[in-house]
Amino acid sequence: MTERLNSRFRRRISLQDLSKVNNPCSIHGIYPYRGKMSGIDAAQVISQLPRNWTLLDPFCGTGTILYEAQIHGMSAIGVDNNPLACTIAQGKTEPLDVKKTLDHLGSAMSTARSLEKSPRMSSSVAEYFHPMTRHQIMRMVAVSEDFSSFERSILYGSICVTARACNGWTWTSTSIGRVSPRLRPIDFYDVVMRKARKHVLFVKGAPSVRILCHDARRVHEVLPEQSVNVVYTSPPYFDALDYTGYYSRLVLDILKVDRAELRKGLIQSFSTYKSDMTQALLSIQRVVRENGLVILVVGDRMVHRKLIRGSEFFAEIAPWGKPYVIERSYTETPSGLWDRINVTDRKEEVLVWDLHEGGHST
Ligand SMILES: C[S@@+](CC[C@H](N)C(=O)[O-])C[C@H]1O[C@@H](n2cnc3c(N)ncnc32)[C@H](O)[C@@H]1O
Repeated sequence: MTERLNSRFRRRISLQDLSKVNNPCSIHGIYPYRGKMSGIDAAQVISQLPRNWTLLDPFCGTGTILYEAQIHGMSAIGVDNNPLACTIAQGKTEPLDVKKTLDHLGSAMSTARSLEKSPRMSSSVAEYFHPMTRHQIMRMVAVSEDFSSFERSILYGSICVTARACNGWTWTSTSIGRVSPRLRPIDFYDVVMRKARKHVLFVKGAPSVRILCHDARRVHEVLPEQSVNVVYTSPPYFDALDYTGYYSRLVLDILKVDRAELRKGLIQSFSTYKSDMTQALLSIQRVVRENGLVILVVGDRMVHRKLIRGSEFFAEIAPWGKPYVIERSYTETPSGLWDRINVTDRKEEVLVWDLHEGGHST
């Protein structure tokens, strides 16, 4: 039966130009993860896949692709070696009871308020928060031990929003850390509850999504051979981003997580990027079905003033030959504007290997 359905899927994936990449009214705003992909983009690709397929995202980050697959009705598996990302991905996709969740957060807040003392915030981040807000954050962290993944996602996302608000909203997704001379007092409890009430309504919770905190270079250790129909992912881009940095640095430092240790398990160095990604693709090859699809969202990268095209790089190292390439257009988006200003001719591309066709372009 599955074979018949697989063979019926022979449509070429296509992408329409988008006028916007972000939808503020979606679950994806729950946490400002660096490198988070557009949910609108992901939904476009996923809407073209059969619903009864199993999808794997081996670099799932905060689960944008997984959530959109779930909304489409597909079963999905996410792998990431960053536990913070895994928590958010889990929080977006696991089933929950709306009333119980809001009640639980409300009672945690009452307990937090009644704590006599708040734990000290790490000195590396304390300067970003007004003292009143800082105490509220640490009280909530102190009572968060039994929080579900969704509740933790709300807590961590609220820390990020609050950092921006305390500093007069001058921070963007990348310009983080300028301390305002007049820090504003922000009611952290209020931010948490408003965020929870907004995002809880987007959680669907079914069909099931499994999140595995594991190294994508070794996915075959945690998944059976030939067990997934489609691999769709946006891998780390040529060491450009520190997935433990930016807003995540604030959260990880508050939680006293050793970021250097965490980074050791992530692909973040250009010198080993090629061998790391080759290893990951070979591992992926073992778990994807012979007639499945592999879809990678990749970018370009300037290295020593030379532009490396993501599509050329991956065509060289992938075990399936040449993919077909869909260029992603940035019309009217901040990225497009940025590219025009910098005259960079940078592109994001979607690479598709249709393994039924041997992975070669048709
Ligand atoms: C471009 S981001 C994916 C973002 C995701 N699509 C989202 O919307 O949030 C790449 C991800 O690869 C993860 N990563 C890097 N090295 C990894 C490894 N060796 N194994 C598993 N995940 C890894 C990073 O933690 C990061 O979350």
